[in-house]
Amino acid sequence: MDERFREQWESNAEVFTGLIDGEGTPHHRKILNPCVDRLLGDVKGKKFLDAGCGEGYLARFYAKKGADVTAIDLSQRLIETSEQLTEKEEFTIDYRVDNVCYIESVPNSEFDIILSNLVLLNVPCLDDAIKEFHRVLKLGGILVFSIVHPAFNFYGPGSWEMGEKDPDTKRRTGFYFKVDRYFEEIEYERYWKTKQGENFPDPISFFHRTLSTYLNSLSSAGFRLLEFAEPQPTEDDQFFERERRIPFFAVFKAMKIE
Ligand SMILES: C[S@@+](CC[C@H](N)C(=O)[O-])C[C@H]1O[C@@H](n2cnc3c(N)ncnc32)[C@H](O)[C@@H]1O
Repeated sequence: MDERFREQWESNAEVFTGLIDGEGTPHHRKILNPCVDRLLGDVKGKKFLDAGCGEGYLARFYAKKGADVTAIDLSQRLIETSEQLTEKEEFTIDYRVDNVCYIESVPNSEFDIILSNLVLLNVPCLDDAIKEFHRVLKLGGILVFSIVHPAFNFYGPGSWEMGEKDPDTKRRTGFYFKVDRYFEEIEYERYWKTKQGENFPDPISFFHRTLSTYLNSLSSAGFRLLEFAEPQPTEDDQFFERERRIPFFAVFKAMKIE
């Protein structure tokens, strides 16, 4: 089962690295990352796990801020890329190929902070991953994870009814967003596109789940929700006309309390 997901990320690793380009897409940089950063707070000197690190730009960002970073990913190629991209830095990061569904390389109660950015919507094992995050966190440790907002995900249960392309932003303006079948928790596959608009080599699997599924998974594993955020664009930019009206991402901050 995991092999299918691993193969998708292995075969998409190179184009995914190109899309992220060491800093994330405009949606990441101008909507998601500032919110994640605020929720993480001061990371200096903290034992920090980046769970599902991709090409590792957030692991590097937080290592530069003084965190003691371990980063895991299912994809060997993405871990190798992350290692290469860290070689010239002054800090080090402990990279490991591992699986958030059962994290083999990490003992109990190891970390102060876990960041899992845009990963849990790609895994079949939400409850197991949340239990694993709970296991490897110290008591009082913080988990911050993000997903594409499940109520307004145009890959999932919804879609924009759109108008013409705006000549300035080259994006189509939105009339309204249609949502249906929100309660159907399904797996679906989508091809992502490169910056040049070409399909990735392989489709990527996504798992649509309701917000209550995410929240209840946290509380049954022994977490207390500290904050739920639906970040808005940080700049008043016409490019994000649609994202100013409905949330694109959902971000959860929880503490291990038992
Ligand atoms: C959308 S990318 C996000 C990467 C990175 N966190 C970022 O924000 O750029 C999802 C990542 O999750 C990884 N992944 C998928 N399933 C995983 C699993 N079961 N265990 C660990 N990593 C996984 C993929 O290889 C990919 O790097």
